[in-house]
Amino acid sequence: MNTNRLSKTMAAALNAQITKEAHASQIYLSYAAWADGQGFAGIASFLFRHAHEERNHMMKILEYILKRGAEVEVTAIPAPPASPVSINNCFEKILEHEVDNTNAVYKLVKMSHAEEDWATWNFMQWFVMEQVEEETLVMNLLDKMKIAGGEKMSSDALYSFDKDMEKASNEVRPAQEVTTETP
Ligand code: FEO
Repeated sequence: MNTNRLSKTMAAALNAQITKEAHASQIYLSYAAWADGQGFAGIASFLFRHAHEERNHMMKILEYILKRGAEVEVTAIPAPPASPVSINNCFEKILEHEVDNTNAVYKLVKMSHAEEDWATWNFMQWFVMEQVEEETLVMNLLDKMKIAGGEKMSSDALYSFDKDMEKASNEVRPAQEVTTETP
């Protein structure tokens, strides 16, 4: 009896999304290391936390594929892009990447709708909302920086911005505790 509840194309697309989330995690990780190297400990800690969150997203999809009886394929992760040239540029690059990931999520939603795979459609809704949250968060940070001068932010403004980021919660749940029901 066939116990695989995902179509071949859907399993392949979800596996590709695993790699995409892992790539997102690597991007946050490399930008975090860059920010720390520049002396911005608060921003670095925010980005390290996000690297972890992206890994949680990866685990969530991996778990779903297994739950539906399909095969997980763990592949190589593309290298992250070049380091940002400024803190403002760092968040601009992050927003670009998040929008790109949102588009990938939308493609999966569209595909699940076309296949009438309502379980996957429903599963993907969590990611749709998560992307809204993440995009909003980065857009708000970019707005703050814009007010403070954007690329021309003074060292004082950068110092306060870094301090603000340090205060942001650093609580991240371990990936193994993240499930579809309790993200
Ligand atoms: Fe998991 Fe920010 O996308």
